[in-house]
Amino acid sequence: MSKLFTPVQIGRYELSNRLVMAPMTRSRASDADGVPFDEVATYYEQRSGAGLIISEGVYPSASGKGYVSTPGIETEAQIAAWKKVTHAVHARGSRIFMQVMHCGRISHPSMQPGNALPVAPSAIKPAGQTWTATGQQDFVTPHELTVAEIKGVVESYRLATRRAIEAGFDGVELHAASGYLPEQFLASGSNRRTDEYGGPIGNRIRFVLEVLQAMVAEAGGGRVGIKISPEMNFNDILDENPQALYWELVEQLNLFDLAYLQMTRQGTPEIDYHALLRSRFKGTYLMGAGLDQAKAETALEAGKADAAVFGELFLANPDLPDRFQRGAPLNTPDRSTYYGGDAKGYVDYPVLQATEAA
Ligand SMILES: Cc1cc2nc3c(=O)[nH]c(=O)nc-3n(C[C@H](O)[C@H](O)[C@H](O)COP(=O)(O)O)c2cc1C
Repeated sequence: MSKLFTPVQIGRYELSNRLVMAPMTRSRASDADGVPFDEVATYYEQRSGAGLIISEGVYPSASGKGYVSTPGIETEAQIAAWKKVTHAVHARGSRIFMQVMHCGRISHPSMQPGNALPVAPSAIKPAGQTWTATGQQDFVTPHELTVAEIKGVVESYRLATRRAIEAGFDGVELHAASGYLPEQFLASGSNRRTDEYGGPIGNRIRFVLEVLQAMVAEAGGGRVGIKISPEMNFNDILDENPQALYWELVEQLNLFDLAYLQMTRQGTPEIDYHALLRSRFKGTYLMGAGLDQAKAETALEAGKADAAVFGELFLANPDLPDRFQRGAPLNTPDRSTYYGGDAKGYVDYPVLQATEAA
């Protein structure tokens, strides 16, 4: 029997299968106030064959926004709109966690309240450009957060967690991967602070641990997960000793009794971070990036992971679990419609039954 289709315990929840939909920003989910459109409920409902859905990145407060048409979890209007999403997913018997994503320096003044500078642990400009309402723009040198401001950001994660639960989410995921604010604190290349949030590893991991503490205080460990991406080095992230950094971080994660640790793409073939960190982590381990059905089954059978996370395949195949079970062919993801746009490439990928009826 396929292990993918056996139940698994993730924090408080027993999931009906081990397929997890990866968090995916689509830059078409919300209006300028970060309120999700009704189509967002349709999009996730279509994909609720997953044991667990992890939502796209959602900013905890407006300064965390980094991309056009991305949603928030700060206002009453946003909470009301998210309720439609969680109701739709629950009605189909699935579970959904909200990914809380603060972009930090991977943003642009045009996306910030009052055109302010984006915030970061240190005033170090990331290399590269970002897509704004007026096209591609260079990143800017961010504002270095004061300690009081850091406490404010931590508090925003606490409130985001409270509001996500109020909106009906089954839990929350801290996005500590892909070079956004938490990883900007973790990595020595983007964190040059000389106070208690910078310098030695024990200081650089402090921000992530404080945020988790706040999230767990609101929701309980069984409703909080975390995503990391050692050495993916996305968004101009670089750390001088990532093996030691993540070894220490994961040891500390064990103190929170989290719902799961999600590990995604790693940038180096030299170290098997999956093997390394799974052995270190005491909870449920979610493996993602580049998986297909066969690779996922192999990893689960070998005990390398407890559940498998699928991104692009879920984006293009709303009924991915059904297709896997039937050994059916998969739709090909259309990269040109990943970000922005309308219903095309969002809620119009065909499902098997519709294809067969046609
Ligand atoms: C369109 C798109 C948007 C993404 N947005 C996010 C995001 O908001 N948060 C996140 O943690 N990862 C994001 N990712 C990364 C995915 O969660 C996943 O880790 C990655 O796609 C690798 O898995 P895959 O090979 O199964 O697609 C995104 C990926 C894609 C394709």
